[in-house]
Amino acid sequence: METIFSGIQPSGTPTIGNYLGALKQFVQLQNDYNCYFCIVDEHAITVPQDRLKLRENIRSLAALYVACGLDPEQATLFIQSEVPAHAQLGWMLQSISYMGELERMTQFKDKSAGKEAISSALFTYPSLMAADILLYNADIVPVGEDQKQHLELTRDLAQRFNNRFNDIFTIPDIRMPEVGARIMSLQEPTKKMSKSDENEKGFISMLDTPKQIEKKIKSAVTDSEGVVKFDKVNKPGVSNLLTIHASCSGESIEELEKRFAGQGYGDFKQSTANAVLSVLQPIQEKHAELMQSEELDDILDSGAEKANQAANKTLAKAMKAMGLGRVKKRK
Ligand code: TYM
Repeated sequence: METIFSGIQPSGTPTIGNYLGALKQFVQLQNDYNCYFCIVDEHAITVPQDRLKLRENIRSLAALYVACGLDPEQATLFIQSEVPAHAQLGWMLQSISYMGELERMTQFKDKSAGKEAISSALFTYPSLMAADILLYNADIVPVGEDQKQHLELTRDLAQRFNNRFNDIFTIPDIRMPEVGARIMSLQEPTKKMSKSDENEKGFISMLDTPKQIEKKIKSAVTDSEGVVKFDKVNKPGVSNLLTIHASCSGESIEELEKRFAGQGYGDFKQSTANAVLSVLQPIQEKHAELMQSEELDDILDSGAEKANQAANKTLAKAMKAMGLGRVKKRK
């Protein structure tokens, strides 16, 4: 069976973009692959975090994984920092990463732009991400479009390691959803929707109340044309809402265009809000239950155990290949 690895940062509550770009795919894939889904807390600390909030977000994200329908019997759900091999292989991969290729990463450029205190971890973040994936010899990595460049670097690093040392790592393929790989901000629809956006009206958090969700969609930026039509270049706001609606309701964009032809944006926005709510409300109920349960701790304990086992095997091979550690005389 082929292996899948993916991760989400606990840097805030996931948005509907994280759901449609990533989580929804995870749930669909879990039956057919050997899956590892990680809460990448070590990635979150590449920018300053409030420690109490971070811990809360980690637990909340774990609960969301399960609430979305990930079955811990099928998929391994775990926290990155509970598997030390990630940081260790991350360091080893930094030693074969070039400054030039890390400088080209658009996520680094975006996140560091205009900031004075930029951590070196923000810069080397892609080497850690490569380690996450390569430790499990993942064949496929389901992600949204914004991770494409990181995945290409992961493939380059894996190939470089294999050529330079020993053929250890599987070269992973990216997998993106056909619709929903890049959900845009509701306020600036030419910008990606992000959980760390300062303007809360720009994103729908998966734990927003129904009222907040309706309000955010109703105040989403569109245009003055009043025509529900998919046209990314000239109508980015309407196109984004169409994408969100279609991914949540399962209807096609063409069907939606027909249904709302000649009706203006009011009904269309209400229907989009209803589609989002019908997906999020059951998830929110399950999430609230899980946050109070010990079941979540059992899931994460057993996830960490399984992940440690798999990761340590690959780490040992990689260390040997690089010449780390020692030759043992004792049998
Ligand atoms: P993160 O936490 O920013 O996002 C988690 C997942 O959600 C996808 N995503 C989106 N998809 C569609 N529209 C959007 N607006 C949107 N915003 C985010 C992301 O593409 C991602 O799939 N570097 C990663 C975390 C990571 C990782 C990994 C992923 C660390 N190690 C190994 C895969 C494999 C990140 O910051 O994701």
